[in-house]
Amino acid sequence: MKTLDAILFKLLLFFVRSPAKEACAEFFGTLFLVVVGDGVMATVTLGRLGPHGVIVSSIGWGLAVAIAVAIAGSISGGHVNPAVTFALASVKKCPWKYVAHYMVAQYLGGFIAAALVYIVYYDAINEFDNGQRQLPPHFNSTAQIFSTYPQDFVSIGSCLLDQVVATALLLIVVCAAIDQRYKRVPPYYQPTIVGLGLISIFLAFGYNCGAPLNPARDLGPRIFTLLAGWGLETFTFRRHLWFWVPFLGPHIGALIGVWLYSFFVDLSFANYSILSSEEDHSEEPSSEYGAQNVVTEVCIEDPSLKISIGAN
Ligand SMILES: *[C@@H]1O[C@H](CO)[C@@H](O)[C@H](O)[C@H]1NC(C)=O
Repeated sequence: MKTLDAILFKLLLFFVRSPAKEACAEFFGTLFLVVVGDGVMATVTLGRLGPHGVIVSSIGWGLAVAIAVAIAGSISGGHVNPAVTFALASVKKCPWKYVAHYMVAQYLGGFIAAALVYIVYYDAINEFDNGQRQLPPHFNSTAQIFSTYPQDFVSIGSCLLDQVVATALLLIVVCAAIDQRYKRVPPYYQPTIVGLGLISIFLAFGYNCGAPLNPARDLGPRIFTLLAGWGLETFTFRRHLWFWVPFLGPHIGALIGVWLYSFFVDLSFANYSILSSEEDHSEEPSSEYGAQNVVTEVCIEDPSLKISIGAN
């Protein structure tokens, strides 16, 4: 009985200490992002919007991510993307002990969102493809409503590069939006900046492979389509070479993005403050030095530098 008590107590401690509230916020944020995003893809696909679809889908996804970040932002940082969580953890802007909880919540959110879109659009999908679930480039393909598929003529290498570049850009936007040193972006405006950033990146890099940019947005719904009738081809597409690209590409790109930002913005300031504190011992510094010193001091003493979670 004592061991049972001990186990129950440990279990209770685990739940009490786990970032449950933050994980729930990530879950609902990602759920909103993917429900709206995949819903927009359903509108684009089932309405056969063709080449105009990129405008609708980029604006749709951009608004979705802005609102998703607003939903989760003040609670969990509003990452709604495992690549963002991992990359921010790598520069100590998110505690490592939250990473697993966040990722589970995000993938779960993506999966359930796909299921919701499928249920809501079930009749329309059936009308569209006559019950024959197909993958791109089939004329009646509906799999791209849920997860991304590359253009026929784009090589896997190009797709990987596309995702690395596009996600690196997205993370530079995120880092700039949450960088509180100059109070450049007020917190209430951060979701808008991330959303506008996503719209512009989607418009620029949606053509090759549909700009997944987010493993939870792609892999969660892909697992759903695997189970819901699109079959194994959702994973064996392009001889098993495709499905991991929207997973690995964003993770690599996100790391590159945050490290580039840290290297050029954070690190250069750190170096400068070392230099200036060694060189400048006078009580009344010359005006030019003085002005710059104020900036570096503010940078270092600003408590927001020690902020641990995303957009807080
Ligand atoms: C696409 O689906 C429609 C039914 O909505 C069907 O009539 C048509 O033959 C399908 N096209 C192809 C190429 O399978």
